[in-house]
Formats: sequence, structure tokens, C-alpha cells
Amino acid sequence: MILKLFVLLWLSLCGIQSVPVLSRNEATYEETVSKIRELSLGLPDERVGEAVSKWSAESTTNPEELGSYFEGDILTVPEEPGRNGINGSYFRWHDGVIPFVIEETDFNETEVQSILAAIADYHSKTCLRFVEYDGNQTDYISIQGGNTGCWSGVGRLGGKQTVNLQPPNCIRRFGVIIHELMHTVGFYHEQSRIDRNDYVTINWENVDITKFHNFLTMPNSYAYGVDYDYGSVMHYTENSFSSNGNNTIDTKPPGIPIGQREGFGIIDLEKINLMYNCTVQ
Ligand SMILES: *[C@@H]1O[C@H](CO)[C@@H](O)[C@H](O)[C@H]1NC(C)=O
Ligand SMILES: *[C@@H]1O[C@H](CO)[C@@H](O)[C@H](O)[C@H]1NC(C)=O
Ligand SMILES: *[C@@H]1O[C@H](CO)[C@@H](O)[C@H](O)[C@H]1NC(C)=O
Ligand SMILES: *[C@@H]1O[C@H](CO)[C@@H](O)[C@H](O)[C@H]1NC(C)=O
Ligand SMILES: *[C@@H]1O[C@H](CO)[C@@H](O)[C@H](O)[C@H]1NC(C)=O
Ligand SMILES: [Zn+2]
Repeated sequence: MILKLFVLLWLSLCGIQSVPVLSRNEATYEETVSKIRELSLGLPDERVGEAVSKWSAESTTNPEELGSYFEGDILTVPEEPGRNGINGSYFRWHDGVIPFVIEETDFNETEVQSILAAIADYHSKTCLRFVEYDGNQTDYISIQGGNTGCWSGVGRLGGKQTVNLQPPNCIRRFGVIIHELMHTVGFYHEQSRIDRNDYVTINWENVDITKFHNFLTMPNSYAYGVDYDYGSVMHYTENSFSSNGNNTIDTKPPGIPIGQREGFGIIDLEKINLMYNCTVQ
């Protein structure tokens, strides 16, 4: 491990890598937050948009995994990163109501319908209610199609907040829309759960060294006591953020499919309903 750290240091000193490297093994919580700030992971970036525009629907990874933001597609620099379900009532949408506006000039009619279909799926399976922003609500989301990839903040942040779904690639997989909105609702990625090492192995030797921060766990996670969910729409694919094409995540036991973006996993719905005290239908 010492050797590995040395090699990373050497690589960074040699300028192969121009941003500071976050050493996952050594990083403390505070260091992680400050590195995330240093890496400016919190700002929309058109280079991400370019990568997402080149993403192919045949790809084994998902378009939001191309992001350089915190955990790939989480825009806001969080005070306490890495949890699956974000703690703190501040981040909850009051009464589960999420006012939204779709910036219709950013999307064509088919794309707007796909976004509305994802919202309808939330309505039929959870007690959350997306209501049209009427100009009076203080807190609301603006669903935009900027050229900066697929991303969202986590939970209610206060005031207007953006969910970006760059067309067409962030709209192609239904589960990508569901995934970004689930960040908005209050969830981080499944493999950020504090207990994830019992369920997956992270192959650090295959992780792009500028992307180590995407695989951190933090001591602040709360997963509502539900099982680890390989089928979660919030789980990364097996080769996300790989430097060499080899797997960055192996399941225990190997070969369990991960990274689906078809739609909600059953446990995703359980967690949302527990977070928002929904009565299960
Ligand atoms: C918004 O608030 C204004 C001022 O209180 C009120 O006149 C208006 O009817 C409200 N609009 C909606 C859609 O509730
Ligand atoms: C809208 O964009 C999608 C790609 O997201 C494309 O496949 C579709 O043909 C477009 N539809 C219309 C009505 O322009
Ligand atoms: C998060 O919330 C859960 C459930 O209330 C609690 O058990 C856990 O200790 C909290 N974690 C932190 C860091 O506050
Ligand atoms: C990828 O994994 C294969 C099989 O374990 C191994 O032979 C190969 O060297 C690895 N490639 C890289 C670039 O590490
Ligand atoms: C759910 O219920 C708990 C316990 O009554 C409460 O503390 C929490 O604020 C509720 N959550 C929401 C989102 O209403
Ligand atoms: Zn995500």
C-alpha cells in the first residue's frame, strides 16, 4: 500500500495528472470534503457534457457515470458526503411535495414525455408528489437540459435547484431519469453505503486515479435497515470509472448484475417510502 501511495505521488509530481489525488486509503472525512472542494467538483462543466454527448447507448456504463462531479453526478459539494439516504430533516421535501418546472425549450416533446413518465412512476410507487411550480413555492427543482451531463443535488437544498438531464443521452435510459430524481429526493449511490465492503470489492488498481473519490464510504450513512441492493437504480456499473476497462467493482459472490438503469429496484422504493414515511400500498 505504501508503494502504491508512493507511485500515485510520483505520478502526480510528474504532472501526468494535474488535479490533486485523493488517496482513498488515507483520507479522513475532513480531508475528503476539502479535496472535493479543491477539485471543484461542484461546478457544471461542459467537458462532462462533451463526454456525455459521445456516450453510446450500447455502452455498458451509464451516462451519468461519465461525470467528474462528486460521485460522478452529484453536483453540490455536500457537507457530509457519501451517505446513501441523507440524514437530516433539512434535506427532506416537506410533506413529500417536490415543485418542479421543466425548461421546455431544452427538450423536445418526446423527451418531455419521458421526464413526465418518470415522474408518473414516482407517483404510482411512492407517496412523493411532484407538483408544477406555480411561482410561489420557495423550494423547487428546475429540470434542465444544459450541456453539462446528467446530475443533481442530494435532497432539498433550499430555493431553486437544478436537475440536469442533457438530451438525448441522459434521457435514453428511463432509469437515468429515475436515478437523478432519486438524488433529488435524498439519496446517494448504493455503493456508498457504509457496509458496502460486505457486498462488493472495489478494485482500486483499476480505478482512474482522478476518480477515487467516487468510491468512498463515509461514516454517515443510513440505509433504513434494508438489505444491500445490487438491483438498485443507484448502484454503479461494474466498470464505472475504470482506468483500464477492467472491473472497478466486483460483487460478492462475483457475477451479480449491477448498474441497471431500467427503473426502481424494489428496495429503492422501500427506502424512499421509509424516508418519507409513506404508508406502503
Ligand atoms: C402566489 O402568491 C400571490 C401573492 O400572495 C397570490 O396572489 C397568487 O394567487 C399566488 N399564486 C398561486 C398560483 O398560488
Ligand atoms: C426528440 O429527441 C429524441 C432524442 O432524445 C429523438 O429520438 C426524437 O426523434 C426527437 N423527437 C422529436 C419529436 O423531435
Ligand atoms: C443517521 O441517521 C440514522 C437514523 O436516524 C442514525 O442511526 C445515524 O446515527 C445517523 N448518522 C449520523 C452521522 O448522524
Ligand atoms: C485486466 O484483467 C485481465 C484478467 O484479470 C488481466 O489479464 C489484464 O492484465 C488486466 N488489464 C489491465 C490493463 O490491468
Ligand atoms: C417521518 O417520521 C419521523 C418520526 O415521526 C419524523 O421524525 C420525520 O420527520 C418524518 N419524515 C418526514 C419526511 O416527514
Ligand atoms: Zn448518481
